[in-house]
Amino acid sequence: MISFEVNGSPVEVEDDGSSLLDVLREDLNLRAAKDGCSPQGQCGCCTVWVDGAPRVACVTPVRRMAGRSVTTPEGLPEPVARRWAEAFVAHGASQCGFCTPGIVMRLAALEGRPGPLEPDDVATALLAHLCRCTGWQSILDAARSVLGEARPPVEPGTAARPGAAERAVLEGGVAQSSGAQVVLGRAGFADDDAPAGALVALTGSDGSPVVAESLAEARRRSAKIQGRRSGAALRHPVPLPDGDWALTLRTTWVEPAYLEPDASWCRPGGRPASPLANGGAFGGKVDSPLPDLARQLAEARGAAVRALWSREDVVRRGPKRPPVAVAVAADGSGTIRIGRTPGSGDLDRLAGAVAAVAPGLRVEVVPVVGPPTSADLRGAGWVEAAVVTAVLGLVTAGPGHPVEVTAPGGGRARVACPPDGPVEVDVWAGDVLDPVTLRSYCLGAVHQALGWVRSEGLAVDPEGRVLDLTIRSFGILTARDTPEVRVTIHPGTGPAVNGSDAVFAATAAAAWLTEGLVPEWPTRRRGPAGSGVADQRQNGALP
Ligand code: FES
Ligand code: FES
Repeated sequence: MISFEVNGSPVEVEDDGSSLLDVLREDLNLRAAKDGCSPQGQCGCCTVWVDGAPRVACVTPVRRMAGRSVTTPEGLPEPVARRWAEAFVAHGASQCGFCTPGIVMRLAALEGRPGPLEPDDVATALLAHLCRCTGWQSILDAARSVLGEARPPVEPGTAARPGAAERAVLEGGVAQSSGAQVVLGRAGFADDDAPAGALVALTGSDGSPVVAESLAEARRRSAKIQGRRSGAALRHPVPLPDGDWALTLRTTWVEPAYLEPDASWCRPGGRPASPLANGGAFGGKVDSPLPDLARQLAEARGAAVRALWSREDVVRRGPKRPPVAVAVAADGSGTIRIGRTPGSGDLDRLAGAVAAVAPGLRVEVVPVVGPPTSADLRGAGWVEAAVVTAVLGLVTAGPGHPVEVTAPGGGRARVACPPDGPVEVDVWAGDVLDPVTLRSYCLGAVHQALGWVRSEGLAVDPEGRVLDLTIRSFGILTARDTPEVRVTIHPGTGPAVNGSDAVFAATAAAAWLTEGLVPEWPTRRRGPAGSGVADQRQNGALP
């Protein structure tokens, strides 16, 4: 048995090789620390304090805790928890909130550090974390408001800002709360609310469910060997159409990279828990199979069942942004080819959205071999079309020139990405409803777009298998790699519309312009030998 302290109380657990995270969540029912990638140890969602220092619990064997003191987000001293929750809410620094408790534990540990904070300390501390939604700037703002020397007070009561919920639905597609309870780890995620004692269903190596009485037993029986980062080159599988084009762009598969892996649970005769408890996962969970699986298994077993995907399952089985090839002539006519893989949903419906932003483009859906793709992912198809047509008249403009995009829903954004300066964003989204929430989503859209253009992609082998299976292989930008972003919101008199998708498209276009219109994304990861990027770099034609 291992004896240690959790949140000030003594605990004793069996030494069965479990991680600290599994003991906290499964045995002690403390679910504020999240499992975003275990056993990869790469996302930071499971961060707790061990003897006052932050540590990722998913790769910490519980046997190392003997005689030590563990603090989870539930055990933060009340004034500390309140201070950080209010700061995060006031700055819109938490959206889905899955990453947030871990980040709060990391930042709150800085409060007790001796000596003054250096300007880069917060971004450096955040290197241990990934956040997909917020784009870091709002988190840095919240951190500075607590840790900065002046410590400006944050307004209490900001959780109840009128309009915040409505704006969040417009931007994220489903209801999303960002109140104090979310910041501190109580957002109601599916696997946090599962009943104690429920059976656990994981996915075996052959794709079939493995059901067991506990998570530890299901893990043992699924006997999966965790995948790693391969270092393999990215492929751009969709060929360009023949022709003499003014501008071309090819992309590869991109992971939506929502931090909360798909999860659901169900009792016999009940309704399965939604994997979308607090946010839309950028469209990546629209067709998640886990609610149906949990319901079927609960009926078959006559007991409550939790159905869970690991990070690796999400990468192998979840939908990706489809790879595309866009070719445009100087008059705006051309073709966008969108890759459809086996298991993808209906991609033909993308034609309407593409026509709204680039009426001169013909849409072709072409078969490719690879992981499933989906039309539900953020602006799939129309954003690529909008990017190419938006910069068509700017090919001779210098880096940092602003680019403007109007989304099919009416939201409009103008973005400039100077090579060394802050990203400047102007957004028009009708009635603002809540500026903190709108700004937060715009910051997240900038971060996602910059990563997409510069660094994000999934290596897929010629047989269509995803090779890079860890969350750090996707190329998500860290806090230190993300430039400062300034958002100006232009209030409108019309009804509120989504603004962040236009920001996403305009940022991608502006970043591409600044990158020199490199014809394959991501621009800063080397393509395979023989691809356009590798060749053109070698020839000195590209930076
Ligand atoms: S769950 Fe521990 S680092 Fe991701
Ligand atoms: S708020 Fe960070 S991943 Fe959603």
